[in-house]
Amino acid sequence: MKKLLLSVLVALAVVSCSNDSNEESLDAINNDGLQLAAARKCHANENYEKMLLDPSFQQKVLEIEEQTEQFTNEFMSKKKPVRGGGGGGDGTPPADNLGVINIPVYVHVIYSNANENISDAQINSQISVLNADFRKSNSDAAQVPTQFAGLASDTEIQFNLVGVTRKSSTRTSWGTNDAMKSAANGGVDVVDPANAMNIWVCNIGGGILGYAQFPGGSASTDGIVVGPQYFGNTGYLSVPFDGGRTTTHEVGHYLNLRHIWGDGRCNRDDFVSDTPTSDRANYGCPSYPTTNCRSTDMTMNYMDYVDDSCMYMFSTGQKARMRSLFASGGVRASLNN
Ligand code: ARG
Ligand code: ZN
Ligand code: CA
Repeated sequence: MKKLLLSVLVALAVVSCSNDSNEESLDAINNDGLQLAAARKCHANENYEKMLLDPSFQQKVLEIEEQTEQFTNEFMSKKKPVRGGGGGGDGTPPADNLGVINIPVYVHVIYSNANENISDAQINSQISVLNADFRKSNSDAAQVPTQFAGLASDTEIQFNLVGVTRKSSTRTSWGTNDAMKSAANGGVDVVDPANAMNIWVCNIGGGILGYAQFPGGSASTDGIVVGPQYFGNTGYLSVPFDGGRTTTHEVGHYLNLRHIWGDGRCNRDDFVSDTPTSDRANYGCPSYPTTNCRSTDMTMNYMDYVDDSCMYMFSTGQKARMRSLFASGGVRASLNN
């Protein structure tokens, strides 16, 4: 417990996107990519940093981490009920008794031109991508290298579109200060955040693909934001972020996942034990194996910064971390429907 508290506090102090290891990783890519990548530096984390200035949020984060650690330890040792015993399991760990988790989703489209007013088909394609990625039915799951194949997990979390709102606006870019989440600021108010995940689809600007609010924050801004051209995998899209994985990545943050490299040097943790340590984000489509911190990076993880077609797994440890939020008393338990 003491160790956990200490490491969380240390991580809170340094969750930062402008650290030197991140800068190093930017050197490796070309000019176009450099600009994009520089602009793409972890806006979910910037949002998180702002939240962390609030002492009551710090306390909330420590409580969430405590529950997460306890749940994860149990999850890794608990056995699935044996097949025929009603559970359909095989008697091996890991497991919990939560079953498949269902999350209702509201999508708010805020547009300043016809392209940004994305079609229902594009919205539905995003829900399909989310379900495929979180249920490990994505067609590229087979590309996971043998080294990590046993860790690639069906998170048993799925998503169900329950409402779409559309709003025309003269504003052409929205930034990352949550203005799109407030009708008073020209955006659209959050709908039923205790029982549903809200996604605002609008142009953020500055080359930012998306950002998320981590669990434990204000209900009025809870949810994720994604640019229209990075949403779904059919319609108005921008290569190489045309596979719907920006939303998969941001939902990962919304369910408390950190970036795979822990946003820092080799000793900085993402609080997931089965994701190898790294000291940098990876971009583009890295060749396998990519070695940092004397271990092979899990570059194909949704929580790295690679292109959409080069990310295709969550790990078992990430599954446990996300599912812990839905256990009794968990901050996102009321979402499960
Ligand atoms: N928050 C990140 C950004 O805006 C999202 C990265 C998503 N990566 C992807 N391949 N779609 O840069
Ligand atoms: Zn991120
Ligand atoms: Ca790790």
